[in-house]
Amino acid sequence: MASSTIIVHGGAGEWPELKQATGLSGVRQAATRGFGLLQRGGSALRVVETAVMEMEDNPIFNAGRGSTLNLVGDVEADAGIMDGKTQRGAGVALLRRVKNPIRLARVVMEKTDHALLAGNSAEKLGEAFGLPEASLKTPERVRQWKQARRQLEKADPGDFSRNLKLIRTKGQSLLGDTVGALAIDQNGDLAAADSTGGVSLKLPGRIGDSPILGAGLYADNRIGAATATGVGEIAMRLVVSKSACDAMRALTAQEAASQTIKTVTKLAGKGLGIVTLDRKGRYGVAHNTPHLCWAAFTRSRDSSRKCISNLSERF
Ligand code: GLY
Repeated sequence: MASSTIIVHGGAGEWPELKQATGLSGVRQAATRGFGLLQRGGSALRVVETAVMEMEDNPIFNAGRGSTLNLVGDVEADAGIMDGKTQRGAGVALLRRVKNPIRLARVVMEKTDHALLAGNSAEKLGEAFGLPEASLKTPERVRQWKQARRQLEKADPGDFSRNLKLIRTKGQSLLGDTVGALAIDQNGDLAAADSTGGVSLKLPGRIGDSPILGAGLYADNRIGAATATGVGEIAMRLVVSKSACDAMRALTAQEAASQTIKTVTKLAGKGLGIVTLDRKGRYGVAHNTPHLCWAAFTRSRDSSRKCISNLSERF
Protein backbone atom coordinates (compact mmCIF):
# COMPACT_ATOMS: atom_id res chain seq x y z
CA MET A 1 0.00 0.00 0.00
CA ALA A 2 1.26 3.51 -0.84
CA SER A 3 2.15 5.90 1.99
CA SER A 4 0.19 9.15 2.17
CA THR A 5 2.85 11.72 1.45
CA ILE A 6 3.10 15.41 0.70
CA ILE A 7 6.23 17.23 -0.38
CA VAL A 8 6.27 20.99 -0.85
CA HIS A 9 9.01 23.35 -1.89
CA GLY A 10 9.47 27.09 -1.58
CA GLY A 11 11.84 27.51 -4.50
CA ALA A 12 15.33 26.93 -5.82
CA GLY A 13 17.82 29.76 -5.91
CA GLU A 14 19.96 31.54 -3.37
CA TRP A 15 18.17 32.10 -0.08
CA PRO A 16 19.89 34.75 2.03
CA GLU A 17 20.63 33.44 5.53
CA LEU A 18 18.24 35.96 7.03
CA LYS A 19 15.28 34.53 5.11
CA GLN A 20 16.04 30.84 5.61
CA ALA A 21 14.24 30.31 8.93
CA THR A 22 11.11 32.04 7.64
CA GLY A 23 11.25 30.04 4.39
CA LEU A 24 11.51 26.75 6.30
CA SER A 25 8.72 27.72 8.60
CA GLY A 26 6.56 28.56 5.55
CA VAL A 27 7.13 25.20 3.83
CA ARG A 28 6.65 23.35 7.13
CA GLN A 29 3.32 25.10 7.63
CA ALA A 30 2.17 24.25 4.08
CA ALA A 31 3.27 20.59 4.40
CA THR A 32 1.61 20.24 7.80
CA ARG A 33 -1.66 21.74 6.55
CA GLY A 34 -1.64 19.49 3.48
CA PHE A 35 -0.77 16.42 5.52
CA GLY A 36 -3.64 17.13 7.94
CA LEU A 37 -6.00 17.08 4.96
CA LEU A 38 -4.48 13.83 3.68
CA GLN A 39 -4.99 12.23 7.09
CA ARG A 40 -8.64 13.24 7.01
CA GLY A 41 -9.08 11.52 3.64
CA GLY A 42 -8.60 14.60 1.43
CA SER A 43 -7.81 13.98 -2.23
CA ALA A 44 -4.26 14.56 -3.49
CA LEU A 45 -5.64 17.26 -5.79
CA ARG A 46 -7.23 19.22 -2.96
CA VAL A 47 -4.12 18.75 -0.83
CA VAL A 48 -1.68 20.19 -3.39
CA GLU A 49 -4.04 23.09 -4.15
CA THR A 50 -4.36 23.89 -0.43
CA ALA A 51 -0.61 23.67 0.22
CA VAL A 52 0.16 25.95 -2.72
CA MET A 53 -2.53 28.44 -1.62
CA GLU A 54 -0.92 28.54 1.81
CA MET A 55 2.38 29.53 0.20
CA GLU A 56 0.74 32.01 -2.21
CA ASP A 57 -0.66 33.80 0.84
CA ASN A 58 2.78 33.93 2.51
CA PRO A 59 4.72 36.92 1.08
CA ILE A 60 8.10 35.31 1.83
CA PHE A 61 7.54 33.18 -1.29
CA ASN A 62 7.55 34.27 -4.92
CA ALA A 63 3.95 33.28 -5.65
CA GLY A 64 0.58 34.98 -5.25
CA ARG A 65 1.06 37.93 -2.89
CA GLY A 66 4.81 38.47 -2.84
CA SER A 67 5.41 37.62 -6.51
CA THR A 68 8.59 39.08 -8.00
CA LEU A 69 8.26 41.90 -10.52
CA ASN A 70 8.99 41.95 -14.23
CA LEU A 71 11.26 44.35 -16.07
CA VAL A 72 8.78 47.22 -15.84
CA GLY A 73 7.81 46.57 -12.22
CA ASP A 74 4.54 44.64 -12.70
CA VAL A 75 3.46 41.27 -11.32
CA GLU A 76 2.69 38.61 -13.96
CA ALA A 77 2.03 35.42 -12.03
CA ASP A 78 1.75 31.87 -13.42
CA ALA A 79 0.44 28.63 -11.87
CA GLY A 80 -0.34 25.04 -12.85
CA ILE A 81 -2.12 21.98 -11.48
CA MET A 82 -2.34 18.36 -12.65
CA ASP A 83 -4.41 15.36 -11.56
CA GLY A 84 -2.51 12.07 -11.86
CA LYS A 85 -5.70 10.02 -11.89
CA THR A 86 -7.12 11.60 -15.06
CA GLN A 87 -3.94 13.20 -16.46
CA ARG A 88 -5.98 16.35 -16.82
CA GLY A 89 -4.14 19.52 -16.00
CA ALA A 90 -4.07 23.23 -16.72
CA GLY A 91 -2.03 26.35 -16.31
CA VAL A 92 -2.75 30.06 -16.00
CA ALA A 93 -0.32 32.83 -16.83
CA LEU A 94 0.32 36.58 -16.70
CA LEU A 95 -2.06 37.20 -13.80
CA ARG A 96 -1.95 40.51 -11.95
CA ARG A 97 -4.87 40.50 -9.58
CA VAL A 98 -6.10 36.96 -8.82
CA LYS A 99 -5.33 36.38 -5.14
CA ASN A 100 -4.68 32.64 -5.57
CA PRO A 101 -3.56 31.78 -9.11
CA ILE A 102 -3.62 28.06 -8.25
CA ARG A 103 -7.39 28.21 -7.71
CA LEU A 104 -7.83 29.68 -11.18
CA ALA A 105 -5.64 26.91 -12.67
CA ARG A 106 -8.00 24.37 -11.10
CA VAL A 107 -11.02 26.19 -12.52
CA VAL A 108 -9.46 26.06 -16.02
CA MET A 109 -8.71 22.34 -15.58
CA GLU A 110 -12.15 21.40 -14.29
CA LYS A 111 -14.51 23.83 -15.97
CA THR A 112 -13.01 24.40 -19.43
CA ASP A 113 -11.59 22.31 -22.27
CA HIS A 114 -8.28 24.21 -22.19
CA ALA A 115 -4.86 23.49 -20.75
CA LEU A 116 -3.49 27.06 -20.67
CA LEU A 117 -5.18 30.43 -20.29
CA ALA A 118 -3.40 33.77 -19.91
CA GLY A 119 -3.82 37.43 -19.05
CA ASN A 120 -6.92 39.53 -18.76
CA SER A 121 -9.22 36.87 -20.22
CA ALA A 122 -8.06 34.34 -17.66
CA GLU A 123 -8.71 36.90 -14.92
CA LYS A 124 -12.23 37.43 -16.24
CA LEU A 125 -12.85 33.69 -15.89
CA GLY A 126 -11.68 33.94 -12.27
CA GLU A 127 -14.12 36.82 -11.75
CA ALA A 128 -16.96 34.75 -13.24
CA PHE A 129 -16.20 31.97 -10.72
CA GLY A 130 -16.05 34.44 -7.84
CA LEU A 131 -12.35 34.01 -7.07
CA PRO A 132 -11.05 36.74 -4.74
CA GLU A 133 -8.87 39.50 -6.15
CA ALA A 134 -5.94 41.21 -4.42
CA SER A 135 -2.88 43.29 -5.17
CA LEU A 136 0.00 40.81 -5.46
CA LYS A 137 2.73 43.47 -5.18
CA THR A 138 4.45 43.90 -1.80
CA PRO A 139 6.73 46.78 -0.64
CA GLU A 140 9.58 44.27 -0.15
CA ARG A 141 9.36 43.12 -3.79
CA VAL A 142 9.31 46.75 -4.99
CA ARG A 143 12.50 47.39 -2.96
CA GLN A 144 14.18 44.28 -4.44
CA TRP A 145 13.06 45.26 -7.94
CA LYS A 146 14.62 48.73 -7.64
CA GLN A 147 17.89 47.16 -6.52
CA ALA A 148 17.86 44.57 -9.32
CA ARG A 149 17.06 47.23 -11.93
CA ARG A 150 20.15 49.17 -10.85
CA GLN A 151 22.28 46.04 -11.37
CA LEU A 152 20.64 45.42 -14.73
CA GLU A 153 21.42 48.94 -15.94
CA LYS A 154 25.12 48.19 -15.43
CA ALA A 155 24.86 45.06 -17.65
CA ASP A 156 25.50 44.90 -21.37
CA PRO A 157 22.68 46.80 -23.14
CA GLY A 158 21.05 45.44 -26.29
CA ASP A 159 21.24 41.82 -25.25
CA PHE A 160 17.82 40.27 -24.72
CA SER A 161 19.14 37.45 -22.56
CA ARG A 162 20.81 39.86 -20.20
CA ASN A 163 18.34 39.31 -17.37
CA LEU A 164 19.07 35.58 -17.36
CA LYS A 165 22.82 36.23 -17.60
CA LEU A 166 22.46 38.54 -14.65
CA ILE A 167 20.84 35.79 -12.63
CA ARG A 168 23.72 33.46 -13.45
CA THR A 169 26.51 35.94 -12.76
CA LYS A 170 25.19 38.24 -10.06
CA GLY A 171 23.37 35.77 -7.91
CA GLN A 172 20.54 33.32 -8.07
CA SER A 173 18.68 35.38 -5.48
CA LEU A 174 17.18 37.11 -8.53
CA LEU A 175 15.53 33.83 -9.49
CA GLY A 176 12.76 34.15 -6.96
CA ASP A 177 11.22 31.26 -5.18
CA THR A 178 8.52 29.41 -7.15
CA VAL A 179 6.43 27.17 -4.91
CA GLY A 180 5.21 23.66 -5.61
CA ALA A 181 3.52 20.66 -4.00
CA LEU A 182 3.11 16.96 -4.79
CA ALA A 183 0.90 14.51 -2.93
CA ILE A 184 -0.28 10.92 -2.92
CA ASP A 185 -3.50 10.19 -1.05
CA GLN A 186 -4.99 7.15 0.68
CA ASN A 187 -6.38 5.89 -2.66
CA GLY A 188 -2.95 6.06 -4.30
CA ASP A 189 -3.93 9.07 -6.42
CA LEU A 190 -1.17 11.55 -7.24
CA ALA A 191 -1.35 15.28 -7.96
CA ALA A 192 1.01 18.18 -8.63
CA ALA A 193 0.64 21.96 -8.32
CA ASP A 194 2.90 24.99 -8.59
CA SER A 195 2.72 28.78 -8.58
CA THR A 196 5.16 31.61 -9.23
CA GLY A 197 5.77 35.26 -9.98
CA GLY A 198 8.43 33.98 -12.42
CA VAL A 199 12.02 35.11 -12.68
CA SER A 200 12.69 38.63 -11.52
CA LEU A 201 13.16 41.20 -14.33
CA LYS A 202 11.55 38.98 -16.96
CA LEU A 203 10.32 40.72 -20.08
CA PRO A 204 6.63 41.65 -19.87
CA GLY A 205 4.59 38.83 -21.41
CA ARG A 206 7.17 36.15 -20.64
CA ILE A 207 5.59 32.89 -19.45
CA GLY A 208 7.73 30.42 -17.54
CA ASP A 209 7.53 26.67 -17.00
CA SER A 210 5.13 26.67 -14.05
CA PRO A 211 1.87 26.66 -16.05
CA ILE A 212 3.24 24.29 -18.71
CA LEU A 213 2.36 20.62 -18.22
CA GLY A 214 5.44 18.44 -18.59
CA ALA A 215 7.84 21.32 -17.92
CA GLY A 216 6.87 22.88 -14.58
CA LEU A 217 4.80 19.94 -13.35
CA TYR A 218 3.50 16.51 -14.22
CA ALA A 219 1.46 13.81 -12.49
CA ASP A 220 0.47 10.34 -13.66
CA ASN A 221 -0.84 7.72 -11.23
CA ARG A 222 0.94 5.01 -13.23
CA ILE A 223 4.42 6.49 -12.71
CA GLY A 224 4.73 9.43 -10.31
CA ALA A 225 4.62 13.20 -9.99
CA ALA A 226 7.22 15.97 -10.27
CA THR A 227 7.48 19.74 -10.15
CA ALA A 228 10.37 21.97 -11.14
CA THR A 229 11.68 25.29 -9.84
CA GLY A 230 14.32 27.68 -11.14
CA VAL A 231 14.96 29.07 -14.61
CA GLY A 232 11.76 28.17 -16.47
CA GLU A 233 13.39 28.29 -19.90
CA ILE A 234 15.58 25.32 -18.92
CA ALA A 235 12.61 23.37 -17.55
CA MET A 236 10.65 23.97 -20.77
CA ARG A 237 13.49 23.12 -23.16
CA LEU A 238 14.23 19.86 -21.36
CA VAL A 239 10.60 19.07 -20.38
CA VAL A 240 12.03 18.21 -16.97
CA SER A 241 8.94 17.25 -14.98
CA LYS A 242 7.76 14.72 -17.58
CA SER A 243 11.32 13.41 -17.94
CA ALA A 244 11.60 12.95 -14.16
CA CYS A 245 8.25 11.08 -14.15
CA ASP A 246 9.38 8.85 -17.01
CA ALA A 247 12.56 8.07 -15.06
CA MET A 248 10.40 6.83 -12.16
CA ARG A 249 9.25 3.89 -14.33
CA ALA A 250 12.59 2.32 -13.39
CA LEU A 251 14.02 4.46 -10.58
CA THR A 252 12.97 5.63 -7.12
CA ALA A 253 11.82 9.23 -6.69
CA GLN A 254 15.22 10.28 -5.32
CA GLU A 255 17.16 8.53 -8.08
CA ALA A 256 14.92 10.13 -10.71
CA ALA A 257 15.34 13.62 -9.21
CA SER A 258 19.14 13.24 -9.04
CA GLN A 259 19.37 11.87 -12.58
CA THR A 260 17.19 14.69 -13.94
CA ILE A 261 19.32 17.41 -12.35
CA LYS A 262 22.52 15.71 -13.54
CA THR A 263 21.18 15.83 -17.10
CA VAL A 264 20.10 19.47 -16.68
CA THR A 265 23.57 20.46 -15.46
CA LYS A 266 25.18 18.71 -18.42
CA LEU A 267 22.84 20.05 -21.11
CA ALA A 268 21.81 23.48 -19.84
CA GLY A 269 23.91 24.44 -16.82
CA LYS A 270 22.90 25.60 -13.37
CA GLY A 271 19.64 27.14 -12.23
CA LEU A 272 17.15 24.35 -11.59
CA GLY A 273 15.64 22.25 -8.82
CA ILE A 274 13.08 19.45 -8.84
CA VAL A 275 11.00 17.50 -6.34
CA THR A 276 9.54 14.10 -7.18
CA LEU A 277 7.11 11.60 -5.69
CA ASP A 278 6.75 7.98 -6.76
CA ARG A 279 3.77 5.62 -6.60
CA LYS A 280 5.01 4.16 -3.33
CA GLY A 281 4.94 7.57 -1.65
CA ARG A 282 8.72 8.00 -1.64
CA TYR A 283 9.93 11.50 -2.43
CA GLY A 284 13.06 12.93 -4.01
CA VAL A 285 14.76 16.34 -4.01
CA ALA A 286 17.64 17.56 -6.19
CA HIS A 287 18.94 20.94 -7.33
CA ASN A 288 21.99 22.56 -8.88
CA THR A 289 21.24 25.95 -7.30
CA PRO A 290 22.79 26.96 -3.97
CA HIS A 291 19.52 26.26 -2.12
CA LEU A 292 16.11 24.63 -2.35
CA CYS A 293 13.72 25.11 0.54
CA TRP A 294 11.42 22.11 1.07
CA ALA A 295 9.43 20.06 3.57
CA ALA A 296 7.82 16.63 3.32
CA PHE A 297 5.38 14.78 5.52
CA THR A 298 4.86 11.07 5.11
CA ARG A 299 2.88 8.38 6.92
CA SER A 300 3.73 4.74 6.56
CA ARG A 301 3.49 1.49 8.47
CA ASP A 302 6.60 0.12 10.16
CA SER A 303 7.27 -3.58 10.65
CA SER A 304 5.21 -3.68 13.87
CA ARG A 305 2.33 -2.23 11.76
CA LYS A 306 2.21 1.04 13.64
CA CYS A 307 1.69 4.18 11.61
CA ILE A 308 4.57 6.61 11.68
CA SER A 309 4.36 10.23 10.58
CA ASN A 310 7.54 12.03 9.68
CA LEU A 311 8.28 15.64 8.88
CA SER A 312 11.54 16.31 7.06
CA GLU A 313 12.64 19.76 6.00
CA ARG A 314 15.85 21.17 4.61
CA PHE A 315 17.58 23.77 2.56
N1 GLY B 1 10.24 28.57 -12.62
C1 GLY B 1 9.59 29.80 -12.65
C2 GLY B 1 9.79 30.55 -13.86
O1 GLY B 1 10.80 30.42 -14.54
O2 GLY B 1 8.94 31.31 -14.19
